[in-house]
Amino acid sequence: MFASRFMRQSLQAMLLSVFAAGAFAQAQPAQIPFEPSVGQDGKDVVWVPTQQVLVDKMLDIAKVTASDIVIDLGSGDGITVITAARRGARALGIEFNPDMVELSTRNAERSGVSAKAKFVKADLFESDFSQATVITMFLLPDINLKLRPKILDLKPGTRIVSNTFTMGEWKDDETATVDEKDGCTNYCTAHLWIVPAKMEGTWKMPQGELTLKQSFQMVTGTFKTGHNTTPITNGRLRGDKLSFTAGGAEYNGRVNGNSIAGMVKAGSKVVAWSAIRSGKPAPAKN
Ligand SMILES: C[S@@+](CC[C@H](N)C(=O)[O-])C[C@H]1O[C@@H](n2cnc3c(N)ncnc32)[C@H](O)[C@@H]1O
Repeated sequence: MFASRFMRQSLQAMLLSVFAAGAFAQAQPAQIPFEPSVGQDGKDVVWVPTQQVLVDKMLDIAKVTASDIVIDLGSGDGITVITAARRGARALGIEFNPDMVELSTRNAERSGVSAKAKFVKADLFESDFSQATVITMFLLPDINLKLRPKILDLKPGTRIVSNTFTMGEWKDDETATVDEKDGCTNYCTAHLWIVPAKMEGTWKMPQGELTLKQSFQMVTGTFKTGHNTTPITNGRLRGDKLSFTAGGAEYNGRVNGNSIAGMVKAGSKVVAWSAIRSGKPAPAKN
């Protein structure tokens, strides 16, 4: 008797809890998919997407091909990463907002490039992007400046391309713009930098000595041969490619750690030249 009343009460309690759970489940709104909104907070920069026409221009001036590894710092909805992957490059987006990471992953799936376009939820300041051959970004001037030392330590020749914002006194190697007739309404300028080799120092040549100073990709200095010292003009690096003029001769060469090899043109004569850095230990990365 007691047992059957107990059973009935237990059954009633169970049914009640099942119905209550059902009613609760019905009261839950269907899960609304995340919708990003332009200007939404980001850790260090709000989200504003780069317009497709400028993304294309950025990848054009960086000459992105299928052999590149492209990393977008603060990848938002994934537009740049997806466009790079469409060009066959392996592309990675580093994005702090997990909803944006999910959204961009879905966007890549929808575009059929998820094998090449990956996204990670991470802080760009704590991420290793040394594998990149191309870095893309749409951040802010002060963030670019904070990243600059790390960028300058990347492999010489790494291309950096930024939507609108510059890199302080490190002037860009190229600027390109698109405008309203191209379909761009705001933030329509792309800047390209090529990480220069580190090549400051004294370089011994069979003919004399080069003393070179470097400010980013700009090179100044002197060429000493016997008792003659001539200034170096038009000195410039594009990655590891060096060019300068000294004593009317045009030098071109490739910097490889502590050696340079190339060709020099004096009048109609073109001959090989080379130099070895002396005095200083090899730079950490070159
Ligand atoms: C101006 S949006 C650019 C988005 C995308 N690169 C583009 O060009 O369309 C900047 C993005 O950086 C992200 N962000 C801000 N601070 C970050 C940080 N410390 N680490 C990673 N992502 C960050 C924001 O969430 C936002 O999506």
